[in-house]
Amino acid sequence: MHRTEIAAFLNQKGGVGKTTSVVNVGSGLTILGKNVLIVDLDPQGHLTSSLGIDNEQIKHTVYDVMCGEIPAGDSFIKKELGARLSVNGQDSRLSLTVMPSNLNMAEAEMVLAQKTDREYLLKKAIDVIKDDFDYILFDCPPSLGLFTINALAAAGKVFIPVQTEYLALESLHNLQIMIESVTNRFNHNLEIGGLIATRFDGRKVINRTVVERLKEQFGALFLESMIRENIVLAEGPERGKDIFTYRPRSYGAEDYLNLCHEILDGNHISDESLSIEPGKVINRHTASRMIS
Ligand SMILES: Nc1ncnc2c1ncn2[C@@H]1O[C@H](COP(=O)(O)OP(=O)(O)OP(=O)(O)O)[C@@H](O)[C@H]1O
Ligand SMILES: [Mg+2]
Repeated sequence: MHRTEIAAFLNQKGGVGKTTSVVNVGSGLTILGKNVLIVDLDPQGHLTSSLGIDNEQIKHTVYDVMCGEIPAGDSFIKKELGARLSVNGQDSRLSLTVMPSNLNMAEAEMVLAQKTDREYLLKKAIDVIKDDFDYILFDCPPSLGLFTINALAAAGKVFIPVQTEYLALESLHNLQIMIESVTNRFNHNLEIGGLIATRFDGRKVINRTVVERLKEQFGALFLESMIRENIVLAEGPERGKDIFTYRPRSYGAEDYLNLCHEILDGNHISDESLSIEPGKVINRHTASRMIS
């Protein structure tokens, strides 16, 4: 039976790599043969803009969907990736589906707060289209407001990108309490998918120490695939590109592909799967070997 994995990427701390992770996990899973929808729940619209989608292209946002003004599918924007897929000798472009946001959503939270069932608006909208996708990923804003609660009410898993610095440990405690409270009140099925270390620099003692502390505290929930500090991950959004399109041979691409494998099934990448290049054709066979 087809089962859609729905995951929220959340940390109320700003700038820890939530958006970067949703863009590149979404793109990586697409390259590995999955059909992926990514949802921008942040009025800052960074997920949308980092894929080069500008305001003129946006007809409807996730807010319009949550209000019930339009069906979810009417907000979709298809974003083509650099890699192509070859099935039975036919090349096709790989694409990611984006449900965008923009600054108009900033006041929307107050309007949504007046609605009955306000915590389940996203879940209701997503339920209708979820079977069309293998993965649906939510990029949460750096706050624990209504958009975040909607994401957690609709998700099966929550992934927590965390920068390996001391303050991270403090904010994680509050985040855990919040996730427990949402689980009890709105979504008994919600699980923590894992903590993702981001912007890791092995030369920094502080980074290494915090990683050890996180491993002790969270055990297997601390995912093995850490994301290293890599400048190209910050450059990609300026050019509206995911890391596999922008710099497929970078550490950033390697780390995010590794993370995708861990999210899929706990396996790690083979060298072969690192050789994806923009425009390069990968075939179903390769893609499925990369997955298995
Ligand atoms: N591994 C990395 N190496 C280098 N730069 C990174 C890395 N990950 C993220 N960045 C950069 O750090 C900044 C913050 O990342 P990002 O926007 O993904 O965080 P966020 O948690 O979504 O932030 P916000 O809370 O504002 O939504 C961005 O400029 C991004 O390009
Ligand atoms: Mg963000």
